Amino acid sequence: MADPQLQTLFEAARLARERAYAPYSGFKVGAAVATRGGAVFAGCNVENAAFPVVTCAEAGAIAAMVAAGEARIAAVLVLGEGEALVTPCGACRQRIREFAAPDALIHTADVNGIRRSFRLDELLPFSFGPENLAP
Ligand code: THU
Repeated sequence: MADPQLQTLFEAARLARERAYAPYSGFKVGAAVATRGGAVFAGCNVENAAFPVVTCAEAGAIAAMVAAGEARIAAVLVLGEGEALVTPCGACRQRIREFAAPDALIHTADVNGIRRSFRLDELLPFSFGPENLAP
């Protein structure tokens, strides 16, 4: 991983994942979002004894970004283990879409590094967004 910005994103997601609260699924996820200005915000999944009340790692990272006063996502990195790529769930694709351009990169990774990168519009084609509600 030569890109220092990507390395920062990776480290932020890796650290956040270590703090994930996933006692029910055992599936820990870390996510990090980068703004165009280079700020990075991370999140982890937070599960609940009432199983549907879960917050995905991406949602936590986006909430931290918005709370810091930022509103544009340049890139996202999602980090989790397993054979299958840990891509954002459907709801999180839509959450990312609110703040990111169609060509924003979404990197999937495990603890060893980046596995595959996608454009947002590959993961969520023909999406609905703020422009749809513009007058
Ligand atoms: N999870 C995430 O945090 N992000 C994703 O993109 C996929 C799934 C979490 C939710 C739940 O705590 C666990 O992974 C298993 O679904």
